[in-house]
Amino acid sequence: MKLLIIGGTGLLGQYLVLEASQPGWEVTATYHDNDAKLGTRTLVHMDVRDEAEVKEVIRTAQPDVVIHTAGITDIDRCENNPQMAWEVNAEGTYNVVSACKTAGVPVLYVSTDAVFNGQKEERYYEFDTPDPLSIYAQTKLEAERLTLDADHRNTVARISLMYGWNRLSEKRNFVTWLLEEMRAGRQVELFTDRRTTPTYAPHCAQVLLKMIKGESRGIYHVAGADCMDRYEMGMAIADVFGLKCGLCKHGSVQSAGHPAKRGRNLCLSSQKAEAEFDLRMMHFRDGLKAMRSTEPGHEPDPDF
Ligand SMILES: NC(=O)c1ccc[n+]([C@@H]2O[C@H](COP(=O)([O-])OP(=O)(O)OC[C@H]3O[C@@H](n4cnc5c(N)ncnc54)[C@H](OP(=O)(O)O)[C@@H]3O)[C@@H](O)[C@H]2O)c1
Repeated sequence: MKLLIIGGTGLLGQYLVLEASQPGWEVTATYHDNDAKLGTRTLVHMDVRDEAEVKEVIRTAQPDVVIHTAGITDIDRCENNPQMAWEVNAEGTYNVVSACKTAGVPVLYVSTDAVFNGQKEERYYEFDTPDPLSIYAQTKLEAERLTLDADHRNTVARISLMYGWNRLSEKRNFVTWLLEEMRAGRQVELFTDRRTTPTYAPHCAQVLLKMIKGESRGIYHVAGADCMDRYEMGMAIADVFGLKCGLCKHGSVQSAGHPAKRGRNLCLSSQKAEAEFDLRMMHFRDGLKAMRSTEPGHEPDPDF
């Protein structure tokens, strides 16, 4: 199977490349600004805003399937730069799905829990109605629509707060940021009024590849097994990594003063993907234990 991963330098993209680097898969991956090397693998440049470059990369790679993970993922950066957010996340996705449609190639587009407004008390299902609160979420929802309209074989996989070691860039995620803070002995205020389903990037990559093999179509939620607030996550991180849980203090998203609005409860149910593709999403503590045993600098790094 020939696979093209757009956004191979991202947190998810790097694990997709790693997980797909196995017999039977031929992988091409793209970068935008970060001209990183993934082991011996060289990545191909792609700016999704450049229609001609998108077409050329797809023509050269001749993929059987495309996973599109690229985008501007910083929610506040999108709020402060709406035009750029629309150009990359929405128009860029249009360029990708149009070129794939012409080439007859299905696309799996990676989207977000943020398409919901977070007012529901329970977990969100695929049939719940989106109501995006931020520019980022609006651009992602539009990209979902463009993806699903382009080809009935396309898939949208909505994921939730992603974590894992980032081996290709300094960009932090909630877990790596919190580990840095707590290891430096700094107190942290962690929101108790924002719940998500933290998703371990390497496992998410495995699940997406399984979905591709199973010829997924339509919308799926692909998120961790636990619905937690940031404070609960902090306590679990302290416990698994042997840090002082007293450094974690209660905080509120209300007082954080972020430019972009965030939903209160963005927990996703992944029941549909679990049932259709015979898989189990990972618990947060299991993801943390996997991180602890693979911390860069503390273990042989086989592939990077
Ligand atoms: N991280 C989360 O917590 C989270 C939660 C929900 C949904 N998601 C979604 O999951 C997907 C993957 O997220 P992530 O955290 O892995 O992203 P990330 O680490 O921020 O990586 C973004 C990727 O997009 C590429 N990119 C940026 N601008 C581009 C452009 N104009 N043209 C082509 N490529 C471009 C980057 O390339 P360079 O690095 O080479 O510049 C990088 O490979 C995203 O679609 C995001 O919306 C993420």
